[in-house]
Amino acid sequence: MEENASFDIRLIPTHVAIIMDGNGRWAEERNKPRLAGHKAGVDSVRAVVETAREIGVRHLTLYAFSTENWQRPPTEVSGLMKLLRTYLESELRTMLKNDIRLFCLGQRERLPTDVRKVLEKVMADTDQCRAMTLNLALSYGGRNEMMRAVRQLAGQCALGELEWQSLSEDMLSDLLDTAGQPDPDLLIRTGGERRLSNFLLWQASYAELYFTDTKWPDFRREQLLEAITVYGNRQRRFGKTGSQLQAG
Ligand code: IPE
Ligand code: IPE
Ligand code: MG
Repeated sequence: MEENASFDIRLIPTHVAIIMDGNGRWAEERNKPRLAGHKAGVDSVRAVVETAREIGVRHLTLYAFSTENWQRPPTEVSGLMKLLRTYLESELRTMLKNDIRLFCLGQRERLPTDVRKVLEKVMADTDQCRAMTLNLALSYGGRNEMMRAVRQLAGQCALGELEWQSLSEDMLSDLLDTAGQPDPDLLIRTGGERRLSNFLLWQASYAELYFTDTKWPDFRREQLLEAITVYGNRQRRFGKTGSQLQAG
């Protein structure tokens, strides 16, 4: 913590969301199988979770597997699922110790049963933890999440429980997987691409975007602190003018 004494707490984003990209290319550059990149990426997850918790980020969302990623070769998908399971098994103790609540965004029911079981156990065991919420986006797609919410609202309208005229943005937000959590303030994508790839499409409407060429296995404490420093120097205007903000 001493190292970060210069951090102004007001400049720490409440919610940081990360598209963890570039594992495959990181491995290919080293003539290693793609899975070696994913393995190295798990160490980045550990480092980033620890750093975020330490500096006071309250919500950290990590995009670990998209609805589109099911189309990857079956061996890569099963390798990723195995890594996920071992990560969850090995991290429970640390999460409890650091008061981190684990939560999951996405189509949990599509995950292999063994992964889902550990995931649900870690979620239940850390349910009372309050210092930071760690959201893992697994089999997650922003469009799928919104469609699930829209279907629920439509169903309630059809049953006469809701009037379509009364539908509001808040009602939709409350049916998303992130219900009750603030929208991301800072959205980071590693690995050089500049796209959202179906991540938090609704919630990211006013997120500050930070793209870096650093591949995920090389994104650790220092790189996260750099992203947060850049964020702290941005002016978030939310549609207003700069002078309106200065006037207070
Ligand atoms: C991100 O790294 C991890 C997942 C999508 C699971 P990639 O596997 O997409 O790495 P690149 O983009 O091929 O380098
Ligand atoms: C996005 O990465 C999903 C995750 C990081 C989990 P991808 O590597 O799958 O994204 P695209 O397909 O290249 O946009
Ligand atoms: Mg990729």
